Order: sequence, then structure tokens, then C-alpha cells
Amino acid sequence: MFFGVDYYPEQWPKARWDTDAKMMRAAGMNVVRIAEFAWSRMEPVKGQYDFTWLDEIIAVMAEQDIRVVLGTPTATPPKWLMDENPDIYPVDLYGIQKGFGTRRHYCSVNPVYRELSKRIAGEMAEHFKYDKNIIAWQVDNEFDTGCYCSHCRKGFQNWLREKYQTIEHLNEHWGTVFWSQTYQDFEQVILPAYTAFDGFTQGGAVNGIAGAPFNHNPGLLLDYNRFKSDAVVEFQNIQIREIRQCTSLPITHNCMGHFSELDYFDLGKDLDFISWDSYPSSAWGKGTSTQLAMAHDLMRGIKGKNFWVMEHQSGPVGWQTFGDTPEPGQLRLWTYQALAHGAEAMLYFRWRSALYGTEQLCHGIIDHDGIGRRRYEEIARIGKELKQLGELFVDSNTINEAVLIKSYDNFWSHRIQPYNSQFDYNVLLMEYYHALAANQIPADVTGIDVDFSSYRLVLMPAFNLMTDEIRSKCEKYVKEGGSLLITFKSGTKNWDNGMSERTKPGYFRELAGIELEEYDSLNYGRKVRVRGLDYECLARSFCEVIQCNGASVLASYESHYYAGKAAVTVNQYGKGRVYYVGCDLEPDALTALMKHIVKESRVTPILTAAAEGIDAVRKSISDKTYIIITNHNNREERVEFEKSYYDLLGERMLHGQETIEAYGVRILEEIL
Ligand code: GLA
Ligand code: ZN
Repeated sequence: MFFGVDYYPEQWPKARWDTDAKMMRAAGMNVVRIAEFAWSRMEPVKGQYDFTWLDEIIAVMAEQDIRVVLGTPTATPPKWLMDENPDIYPVDLYGIQKGFGTRRHYCSVNPVYRELSKRIAGEMAEHFKYDKNIIAWQVDNEFDTGCYCSHCRKGFQNWLREKYQTIEHLNEHWGTVFWSQTYQDFEQVILPAYTAFDGFTQGGAVNGIAGAPFNHNPGLLLDYNRFKSDAVVEFQNIQIREIRQCTSLPITHNCMGHFSELDYFDLGKDLDFISWDSYPSSAWGKGTSTQLAMAHDLMRGIKGKNFWVMEHQSGPVGWQTFGDTPEPGQLRLWTYQALAHGAEAMLYFRWRSALYGTEQLCHGIIDHDGIGRRRYEEIARIGKELKQLGELFVDSNTINEAVLIKSYDNFWSHRIQPYNSQFDYNVLLMEYYHALAANQIPADVTGIDVDFSSYRLVLMPAFNLMTDEIRSKCEKYVKEGGSLLITFKSGTKNWDNGMSERTKPGYFRELAGIELEEYDSLNYGRKVRVRGLDYECLARSFCEVIQCNGASVLASYESHYYAGKAAVTVNQYGKGRVYYVGCDLEPDALTALMKHIVKESRVTPILTAAAEGIDAVRKSISDKTYIIITNHNNREERVEFEKSYYDLLGERMLHGQETIEAYGVRILEEIL
């Protein structure tokens, strides 16, 4: 198994390299990722390449049996390059061009930049193609999107021409007859930038620049999101093609978990494996155990394959301020959680805390003074354990009976029109993932293209943009005995982000055996009481008033003018069932409802009892089954299970129950 760090040799004197490499080896490390921001060192002057320092560090690492992942440096084009081509800087939606001084200062559509990126990737690939110590490539670093420059406008117009063929077709799909927006030619089409009538932008739609701050046509806004995502995929592929000319080594990109500006399912198609950057607790936020678990599951879901963690927090992290210092045991805990959910390589960000630059406060494993202390010791312990157990995780399979579907198109559509200011598609997905986890049900998280047939339960919360193909897929799955869960805000739009003419819930009406009489967006703190089989709660954002056409009622509203009407239903359809949840439910209520749903769907929990903060995953490797349990609470927790297991770390048998210490980990082999 690969275990290592992100290393920045260009930031340290050569005299130190050997010490670093030896300390890495002592901690059980066998891989470093390097070079991803070092363009100004690789090409200090236009056309004059200097890879000798990289050859040297690669040799220093090889001495210690440490392999290398090479990153292309296109996230940080050097100053000379930008001075020569200022047109590369991205433009914001007010038309203001951004400048130098941080990173990601480029527009991925810019043709000159595409050419220059291709060139540097090609030069690197050519230079390093015979280096046996390199094991993989990373393209760029943490792709982002969003630019409103003239190249993007041209690019968008071409993208639309390809998609719609004729301008009449585009007009029809977007409904440009509304407000007299009809276009006569693709060249007239705008980017959704600053526009006159922005005064009525409502709460939930304001989501920063990447959001939908203005009231543009929803069809145009959605297509612009798709175009931006496609543009990055194209940008990435230019480099992939270039690298592939020289080497067959696997190529990856480091994704960002729940980040949703890019369609990661598309981005992943051309990559050999997915990697991602996990920062459980930084200045920018602190993830719960289920948020982290879901991010790992989604990263595994991109290709339906195990992934790498290319950057994992190893100390307090931030730019101006920093987040909590990982407590003793947390780095180990997070590492095993990642491995449990499908990581098969772990690299920590970063080796040593920087002495200068924006990221002086993104602490590494070893401190500013070059000394490894508690965090280094903890990572060395993990390294030692993984020497024994690491291979368990490589090529392991995760076996799940439930799948949660994420759709980037739907994410964008919901952001453009959330209906209610509190609605957030990603939060809703998280709530459903959490309800499964709280019932000890691990899940796959992936896109709509996945084969449903191997699952007992498919969850498609707020799948609002729909097509006939997706409807048929759902029908077939349920007819043959599957359970499908859908929620409010589902099935009512076509793939163009326009309203469907079908009676709501539109594409899901027959399947769910219901019809919506109306719906109610809850504003200004108004709440509606809901009562289910064994729970009661308050809906806070959206209530759909359901009329059953064959479905039976699982929960009803208890207040407001629709008291007594159905809120949650189930419909028998063919051999399967369709659950329809017509409103938002509080976490405990959703967990209670899910308990009922998973039982009826014959989805089996891994543990029979566990507290919040316990994460459990089931895996198979060759013919053996394992469960991996991590305790994210800062106190000991008892878990209960039915089978007997052998505890690989503690080297003893467990029957029926176990007490796990604070931040503890158990890797348990099932005894048949
Ligand atoms: C990201 C980047 C790194 C670094 C870290 C720490 O994950 O990929 O280069 O900036 O965040 O903030
Ligand atoms: Zn641009």
C-alpha cells in the first residue's frame, strides 16, 4: 500500500532533502507527491526547462525506497507567462479581470493557456518518461470553475451550437419567448453575467459567484454550469493526452469531496483513478463523521473503484486563521475511516510546515523547525500498522445494499431555483446518508448511471430534473422488486430545467402512486407538524400535500390547513416499493422512517446497536469479509453485533459486543 506525503522540495534547501527522506522512511512512508505548483522552477524562463532539481529529489527519494507521484503545475502559471499573456486571467461576473498573487489564476477555456498547459505537461512527460521511480501522474490541482471572459463566451456559444444544432432548437429548449429573449444566432447568446434586473434575487439563490445571483433564464444558467464543467474536463484531457503519449502510468486528479461545481462523474471518466483531498477539520469547516464518510463514498462512487487520498490533513490548517489541532488519535482515526471507505493509498498534506507564503499556517506532519513531534509519532505508528495491514485495503471491495444517487445537474438546478431559501440539495443528500448511517447501513454514493439491480434500496432525494430514460430505469428496477425512495422536489422538471407539463410529481406520479394537490414553501420560521408511525417532528422548509392514488400513508401533516393530509407514502409497484417523502423531516424522525424502510427493503445493518459518531463499513477481500469500525467520539462507545469477529489490531476474538475507546479503530474479520 502507498503511504506518504505531499512534499515541496523547491521550498527547502537541498541540504535538507536527505534528512526529510530518511525521516519519511522511518515513518513507514513509500511515496511522495511533488511538483504540482513548481512551474516557475521547471521553466524559469520561457522555453528554458530545468528538471534537474526534480531528477535530484527523485533520486534522493529512491535512495529511501520512496516512489513519486508527479503533479503538473498548471494551477500556478508563472509571472512571466502571465505578463506575456494577461488575457489568461479569469474574469468575474461583473466583468472585472482577476490578477496575479494567489493560484488558479487562469481561464481553462483560454486557447493560449490550453496550449501552454499542454506544452509544460508534454515537456514533463517527455523528460520523466524513463524514470522508474515515478508511479503516477496528477493533472493540475483541485480544479475549480467559473469565468466570464470573451473566450468563455465563444466557447459557450460553440458548446451550445453542438448541443442544439439550430438556434430555433435552443430557443425552444430554453423558452426564450419569455421576456423577449429570443436569439437569432448562436453568436448573440450571452453568459449569465451581470444584468439589469437583479433586484429580486431571493435568499437561497445567492450563493456566491458560483451560484445563481441573477435572474437569468434557468435553461441558460443550467447549460452554463454544464459548459463550465465540460470545459474543465476538456482542459484536463489536453494534458492527459499529452502525458499518455509518453507513458502508460496511471493519471489522476485531486478532487474535493462534496465540492459540486464540476461534474466529477464526467471528470473521472478519463482518469485512471480518483484521488481527493480530505481536511476533516480546518479553518474552513469541521466535518462530522458522516460528512466525511459520505465524501469518501462519493469519491469511490465516481468510478465505482477504490481511490487515493492525495492530501490528508496532518495538523492545524488554515490561511489567516487555522482550525482545531487534530487531537491525539484523530489522524489515525481519519486514516482508517478513509481506508475503510475505499482509500487504498494515503498521503498527508504536507510534510513540513512552510516558513513562508500563504500556507505558513497549513501545518504539516513536522513542525516549522523541522522536528517531528506528536503528529509525526502518530503517523509513524499508522505507517507501522499498515506495513502489516495495508494490503487488506488494496483491491478490497465495499459491499453495500443501498445506494444514494447524486446528480450534479440536479444540484445546479436546485441552486438556480431552490424554491425555499433553506433548501440545499447537498444538505438533503447528507441528511439521507445520515439516516442510513444512523441505522448502521453503509451506502454507495454515485451517479444515476449506476446499475440499480445489485441494490435493495435506491435513494434519489430531490431528483427533480428527469428524462424518460431515467423514469424507465426506475420503473424496471422497482417492478423487479427493488425499493426506491424519492422525496419532495422530484420529477417535476425536464432536463432543460423547465417545468414539466405532467401532473406533479411528474415523472414519478405512477411509480409513487400519488398526485400532489399543492405544495407549500415554509417561510419566516413557520413550521408544520408531521406525525409518522413512531415519530413526530416539524417540517421547516417544504411540504407537499399528497393525494394517494393507490399508495398508502406512512406519515401525515398535523397542522396548518392541510392537517390530516398525507406527508409520506409507500406504493407497491410490481414486486417492489416506492417511498415518497413529501417534506423535510428532522434527523431523528428521518432516522425512524429509514429504520422502517430498510427493514421492509431487507437491507441488513452491520451493527445491531451503536451511538452517533460510530462509523461502520463492510468490505470483502478475496473470500473474506471484514467490518471496520471507527469511533469519532471523544469518549468510549459500546457497539453490538450479531456475528463473531477476529480483531486484527488487538489480536483477539470478539463476540456480540465491543467497547471502543475514544477515536478508536477496529478492523474485524468475520468468523464463519
Ligand atoms: C488544498 C490544496 C493544497 C493546500 C491545502 C491546504 O487541498 O490542494 O495545495 O492548499 O488545500 O489548505
Ligand atoms: Zn474565461
